[in-house]
Amino acid sequence: MIDLGCGAGGQTIQLAGLLDGSRIVAVDSHEGSVARLRAEVGRRGLSGRISAVAADMLNLDFPQGSFDLVWSEGALYNIGIGNAMHLSRRLLRSGGYVAFTDAVWRRNDPPGEVRKSFEVDYPAMSTAVGVMEVIERSGFELKGHFTLPDEAWWGDFYTPMEARIAEMRRKYAGDGEALAVMDMLAAEPEMHRRHSDCYAYEFFVARRPE
Ligand SMILES: C[S@@+](CC[C@H](N)C(=O)[O-])C[C@H]1O[C@@H](n2cnc3c(N)ncnc32)[C@H](O)[C@@H]1O
Repeated sequence: MIDLGCGAGGQTIQLAGLLDGSRIVAVDSHEGSVARLRAEVGRRGLSGRISAVAADMLNLDFPQGSFDLVWSEGALYNIGIGNAMHLSRRLLRSGGYVAFTDAVWRRNDPPGEVRKSFEVDYPAMSTAVGVMEVIERSGFELKGHFTLPDEAWWGDFYTPMEARIAEMRRKYAGDGEALAVMDMLAAEPEMHRRHSDCYAYEFFVARRPE
């Protein structure tokens, strides 16, 4: 399988544990994240099973149909879901699966604050229905989808992030510039606390027909 936009590979390592014996290619364009994953792979003795590759996912030269599963968490939006489906079609053998998460709108009328924030981060963000239409238009059979629970935002992400911001605020208490950066970073979890009804991560699974 291939994990596109793997970051530092939290999910890659989990997948290796779940898919006993399978081989995983993990790709990310951020060299530092790939280096962290490589180190973790080495520490866990998984280098025979996980290859961590620093590359742009749009620039991969694996032969057509090399993989039976394309996995991607929170990364395909960087190239657009239509392009990602096209890429997955090329990477997957017939009958292979693509499994990915994408941020989606849950409400048609989000408050201005939320709309503006996503205009910067993900202007093409759609609804779950919109993503399903792209999946099916790209020649995939949709097998299922579900909304990630709100805990998925907090458990491993916003809770440790807010703790770290508090730590940094104490450390840089007299430094106005650093505190302004902390305020900017803190705005994201604060917005999520107020407006999590407006958007979510949706997990999609689809199959490339034989
Ligand atoms: C939100 S992070 C998700 C990381 C990881 N999948 C996770 O869930 O923790 C998105 C990742 O996509 C990577 N990325 C963005 N554009 C990319 C591209 N064109 N090719 C490969 N990776 C890309 C970023 O470097 C980043 O690590």
